[in-house]
Amino acid sequence: MPHFLTLGGLPAATLTSLLDASAAYKRGRPHAPAPWLQGKTVAVVLEKASTRTRVGFEVAINELGGHPIVLSTSGSQLGRGEPVEDTARVLGRMCHGIVYRTFGDERLQRMASASGVPVVNALTDREHPCQIIADLLTVRERLGTIDVRYAWIGDGNNVAVSWLHAAAALGLTFTLACPEGYHPDPDVVADARAAGAAVNVVADPVDAAKGADVIMTDVWASMGQEEEARTRADAFAGYIVDDGLFVHASGRAIALHCLPAHRGEEIAATVIDGPRGLAIWDQAENRLHTHKAILELAFTGRAHGP
Ligand code: CP
Ligand code: NVA
Repeated sequence: MPHFLTLGGLPAATLTSLLDASAAYKRGRPHAPAPWLQGKTVAVVLEKASTRTRVGFEVAINELGGHPIVLSTSGSQLGRGEPVEDTARVLGRMCHGIVYRTFGDERLQRMASASGVPVVNALTDREHPCQIIADLLTVRERLGTIDVRYAWIGDGNNVAVSWLHAAAALGLTFTLACPEGYHPDPDVVADARAAGAAVNVVADPVDAAKGADVIMTDVWASMGQEEEARTRADAFAGYIVDDGLFVHASGRAIALHCLPAHRGEEIAATVIDGPRGLAIWDQAENRLHTHKAILELAFTGRAHGP
């Protein structure tokens, strides 16, 4: 089953084909129909809040000729404790694929194992692979290449881990500035280095930003970490992408943020709402185009575009 669960171990050629197919879907919209989900129904199961992922997948499925059904925890029997496997078996008998946002990665694995249909990871506590395809496409559009210097400021979280997987596949130069206790999984860092990526983890955001072409960040407290928000606010004080940080970056540097953002916490309003932050809105739009390529890959095993 060609699920799309992680960027870990994905060949560089597959990532590149996803980017090329996404760009083709973007160029072709809305005049290059690719109705190969015609007659197919895809369940979008969301156990956490979502705006971009939900809308991006609903529109993508619709524009590929398919029919999306969105299920949330509270509106389904998942909220009353129905096991993931039972939900998976039933969805697999009625639907042709599942897009799943959940908490622990093991829930995603259980959905994938029991459903018998392709499953796409729409974010877990550990990874957010779909996000990074849109991020890479945005970098390629804005800077002409993805072979640039990347800085990640803040939490070594799910988005950072998926970025490290991409860095490993593509041999990227990637520096993370994280407070003590919030580093990314050391095994993921070690694997990326072993694969040839130039990955560094530093404490000072300025050290990460020096010469960077892309400066990225994400919320200090991710979904499911709400109770840690105060402790995290203390730990992450100073880990903000602001204009002062861009002084150390390359002249062409852009800001990226997967959104939703907290202005004045991990990113300054002057950055997200200023010229450096313009790419962030392309990044959000690119979720739609990249979802089409990801669905094509998950359903057919290849991503060619329309
Ligand atoms: N970036 C992202 O996944 O946004 P949503 O949580 O709104 O889907
Ligand atoms: N790290 C964030 C990403 C949201 C898209 C979270 O998991 O909440």
